[in-house]
Amino acid sequence: MSYIMLGAPGAGKGTQAIALSNQFQIPHISTGDILRTHIQQQTNLGAKAKEYIDQGLLVPDELVVDLVKDRLAQPDCKKGFILDGFPRTMVQAHALAEALKDLGYVLRAVINVDVPDEDIMIRMTGRRICPNCGNTYHIQHHPPLEDGVCDRCKTALSIREDDQAETVAKRLQVYHQQTRPLIQFYNDQHILLTVDGTESATTVTQNIMKALGANA
Ligand code: AP5
Repeated sequence: MSYIMLGAPGAGKGTQAIALSNQFQIPHISTGDILRTHIQQQTNLGAKAKEYIDQGLLVPDELVVDLVKDRLAQPDCKKGFILDGFPRTMVQAHALAEALKDLGYVLRAVINVDVPDEDIMIRMTGRRICPNCGNTYHIQHHPPLEDGVCDRCKTALSIREDDQAETVAKRLQVYHQQTRPLIQFYNDQHILLTVDGTESATTVTQNIMKALGANA
């Protein structure tokens, strides 16, 4: 079964996507992570994407849509997948619907993690990420067991460049203009499930599992 994680930047989409991916044993597909890998590897796509990401803007639809289509065509997606950070515009939502139809995949639910803007800034500035495995932490709300070190792979944690206050403010503005309309789009299809993302990460996971009728 396949899922989409929707929500503002920093709402906890990645955190919940990893939890569900572990629970259901299906791949977690984060367009943000894929783009950051391209930037790290200094590919042409990475160079183009970096210009937008550093300004808190969305990467053009045509670049991201092709990436996702290629990823969904991989054999491991046949048993289901969790899309995190895609779609983010109506153009992407329509392109995804077409791709899913072509591949014969069905969306089980679109999970909207709801967090007010006021909380987002605190989350972003306290976020730490593992540059190796992608695990995400927060210095207060979800600290690693050992300070500055990933629990999973023991790599030194780092701070994302686009987590500076000014860039976060721009990302929130872009979210409200371009991504928020997708809530109504999926609600109209009766597959939207909204959870309160201000609860602890563990409680949010439990609430998602409950709403999906699965055991946490
Ligand atoms: P992307 O990496 O997708 O960033 P984002 O959507 O802005 O979301 P984040 O990864 O910042 O946050 P999240 O919701 O995953 O929260 P997380 O779990 O990390 O995209 C980056 C950029 O790439 C975009 O700005 C854009 O330029 C480009 N891009 C990507 N996809 C694109 C697309 N489809 N089209 C065009 N451009 C695209 O949690 C955040 C923090 O809060 C962490 O520290 C975490 O530990 C903490 N936390 C999580 N849950 C809780 C909780 N319940 N309580 C307290 N703290 C919590």
